[in-house]
Amino acid sequence: MQPLVDKINKQRLPKHIAIIMDGNGRWAEEKGEDRLFGHFHGVESVRNIVEGCAELGIQYLTLYAFSTENWDRPQQEVDGLMTLLVDTIRKEVPELNKNNIKLHVIGNTSMLPELARNELNEAIDLLKNNTGLNLIMALSYSSRWELINAVQAIAKDVEMGNLNPNSINNTVFEKYLTTANFPDPELMIRTSGEFRISNFLLYQLAYSELYFTNTCWPDFRKNNLYEAIIEYQGRERRFGKTSKQIHDNIVLNSTSHP
Ligand code: FPP
Repeated sequence: MQPLVDKINKQRLPKHIAIIMDGNGRWAEEKGEDRLFGHFHGVESVRNIVEGCAELGIQYLTLYAFSTENWDRPQQEVDGLMTLLVDTIRKEVPELNKNNIKLHVIGNTSMLPELARNELNEAIDLLKNNTGLNLIMALSYSSRWELINAVQAIAKDVEMGNLNPNSINNTVFEKYLTTANFPDPELMIRTSGEFRISNFLLYQLAYSELYFTNTCWPDFRKNNLYEAIIEYQGRERRFGKTSKQIHDNIVLNSTSHP
């Protein structure tokens, strides 16, 4: 049988994939284990999917690892996740470096414990010259936090006379987002059978294809990623235009660029 990965059209890969890694807790509870057991196994999936994206040549991968709302979880789980974060970064940095991966973090990192912040900053610095996959960890991130932050920064710039309100358009606004240096995700995946966006990249996902799977994050592997990409490639992205306009444009482009 043809391997799933061979069914992917390598010329039409999404540049940016964003993932809501959901279902760790339920996966563990179904096994009669502590929720942290699920997060621990979730790290295996992170490793596998990062490797899968790097192998395919995906340029940006954003992982929703910890939301602003996750701070309200039981303290034992929050502490466990922070420890896991520090341990994972420490352990994975050499492999990330070997695979030419650059690390970025988006979110309100001032809320993270100092140890986690230091570990992240060291890793970002060590990997800063890499030119392969951009791995973006959303940590203590929520879209509403990001949008309010952007509006405050814009208001300050207007107040200081550095920004003319009439000049604010999409391009200017996007410069104030934490994702200013990244393209919007073409594909957003959420695991564990939940059909929500949960305060994740609300502005950036405006035209993304959404893919939902019942697989819980600790079971999500490269083949699940390939399935999502294959489904994405079968969809027609119209950006508000008609199907005919999109088709005519493809024909036009393919004849004008031999
Ligand atoms: C959602 O599952 C997952 C998280 C809140 C954390 C995701 C973290 C990892 C995959 C580990 C790697 C990241 C770090 C920070 C080291 P859930 O707990 O909401 O699952 P549930 O919906 O079944 O309760």
